[in-house]
Amino acid sequence: MGVSGSGKSTIGKLLSQELNIPFFDGDDFHPKENIEKMSSGQPLNDKDRQSWLEVLNSLAIKELKKSNCIIVCSALKQKYREILSQNIETQSKWIYLSGSFDLISKRLNNRENHFMPLDLLKSQFDILEEPTGALQVDISLSTNEIIKTIKRDQIETSEFGIFGLGVMGKSICRNLAKRGFKISMYNRHLDDSEVEVAKNFKIQFSELSEAKAFDDITAFVNSLQQPRLILLMVNSGKTVDRVIKNLLPHLSKNDILIDGGNSNYKKTKERFDYLKSKNIHFIGAGVSGGEKGALNGPSIMPSGDKVAYEMVQPYLEAISAKDKNDLPCCTYIGSEGSGHFIKMVHNGIEYVEMQLLAEVTTILEALGQNPDAIADTLGGWKNTASSYLLDITAVILRKKDDDGDWLVKKILDKAGNKGTGNWTTISSTELGVPSTLVATALYSRFISFYKDERLQLNKLFDRTETSELNLSSMEIFEAYQFARIINHYQGFKLINEASNTYKWNLNLSEIARIWTNGCIIKSTLMQDLVETLKHDANILTNTKLIDCVNQYKLAAKKVVLQSLLSDIATPALSEAVQFLNGITIAYSSANIIQAQRDFFGAHTYKRLDDESGKSYHTIWEKLTNN
Ligand code: 6PG
Repeated sequence: MGVSGSGKSTIGKLLSQELNIPFFDGDDFHPKENIEKMSSGQPLNDKDRQSWLEVLNSLAIKELKKSNCIIVCSALKQKYREILSQNIETQSKWIYLSGSFDLISKRLNNRENHFMPLDLLKSQFDILEEPTGALQVDISLSTNEIIKTIKRDQIETSEFGIFGLGVMGKSICRNLAKRGFKISMYNRHLDDSEVEVAKNFKIQFSELSEAKAFDDITAFVNSLQQPRLILLMVNSGKTVDRVIKNLLPHLSKNDILIDGGNSNYKKTKERFDYLKSKNIHFIGAGVSGGEKGALNGPSIMPSGDKVAYEMVQPYLEAISAKDKNDLPCCTYIGSEGSGHFIKMVHNGIEYVEMQLLAEVTTILEALGQNPDAIADTLGGWKNTASSYLLDITAVILRKKDDDGDWLVKKILDKAGNKGTGNWTTISSTELGVPSTLVATALYSRFISFYKDERLQLNKLFDRTETSELNLSSMEIFEAYQFARIINHYQGFKLINEASNTYKWNLNLSEIARIWTNGCIIKSTLMQDLVETLKHDANILTNTKLIDCVNQYKLAAKKVVLQSLLSDIATPALSEAVQFLNGITIAYSSANIIQAQRDFFGAHTYKRLDDESGKSYHTIWEKLTNN
């Protein structure tokens, strides 16, 4: 594409010879009326162009069925290009021959048998909308150089780059390559520890035979088609900034960086703004599913600039998991760092689901079940409450060590964390949302970490025997389900409040949908929530869920009560019961808090019997001199 006189036909024909693919000049397909109009010096309008562009689109579709082709066409406006590449968006590649008005008008004047009024050329420049996703080639280069540039970009280059070959990066590379994408892979070189990582990885897997492997940034970046699409799969935090700094000098206008790590959503916004000032697009994409998910189909939560997202959409959708209707578990979440925010809340929900399973396991153990028996009990819940985390917990419980003993019993009881649970808790406090369960799950991990102090205090305090426990596995199941509903209520509440506060306009049902497969918190409950969230952001107003909560509450209270009496720590199960009490009470104890605040700080309070919202202050007692 390019304005008249940019050399499209010359370059197109030469390229078609070099690549041995058919060439078509768009001008040859104009209807008679358009030719007459142009010959009389009148510019074409959009209506004149519509059917012509459709004919060229059909031509491209027909040719693509056989192989490839080159079509030259001025295609000055975005909407023309949309018609031209309709239904073949991902297979179309735009090459934009760009030059200044002066240069092109001079060239046109020098052409024999060619007359083009300058006004007509000027009108083309006036309507020209430069494409964002095209390879832009400067026509002041020699013909040879132009051809070389295009060939290098089209033939020898990859369409997608992956930066960082840790466990997740490697799996994503294989996933892309298996789907036929031309990829370039980069991993840094570190003497001794990271030597020829990309090259060694490439030779391990047959699907990577066409992939290009690099440990040199310049060569990696130059191996990519423009605009470049680069997925960063590096550790979150300072590493992302370092990598951006290292890549930046090699990038060109409109290149797109995607951060696929667990980055903090506020940092993503900062990076987005910084890169925008450098004309580089930035997409923060939450990726869930661990190593296996990344290989076979993760759940992907991208956000940022919508136009840039559309450029990477075909790749992300292709590699993502598919929901029950075969739709990709990848959707454009919203602006700024909303994708990483959503991934953060995903992890918050994950923390609670894990904690609940840990508590349930402890109760079942106290009831005398060994790990195999607990796995059987959990397995029995699958029909009504299937989830990835339930499944893996059963597998974990059955696993034996080399000596035949249960491996799980040999694992040090100190839970780690990489930060997303902290951020969810921090965000909930910043937004004023009571995400009590994630805070509880997080603090339980922190408590576990004080192993030495626990051992010391264990000797100093009496702990009740657990002989009083009298619970059925059905009651434990109901308590577990009860707490899970509260967990999902809190998670989606946090998302909804963030969406309102930050004006992200998030689609909660769609978020639940992309969490029905590929990710760590996929479950049948999540499947149900896709429908529930279409009608209301507050899942606790859904009749079916109200019935479940009412039905399970008694068992939840009994499980919590007996666990308390037996000194079994069940913080998340207990908090779920307490939270429901708090959120369903018509007149809470906050009247006392307000009175206390007014007493010592004159913070004022409002009265139930005054609907005007007026603030009151009371002199609660007479001041005495001493
Ligand atoms: C996922 C996981 C993944 C990872 C987290 C949890 O969705 O695939 O959430 O992102 O397991 O980093 O980390 P921590 O438990 O270590 O905080």
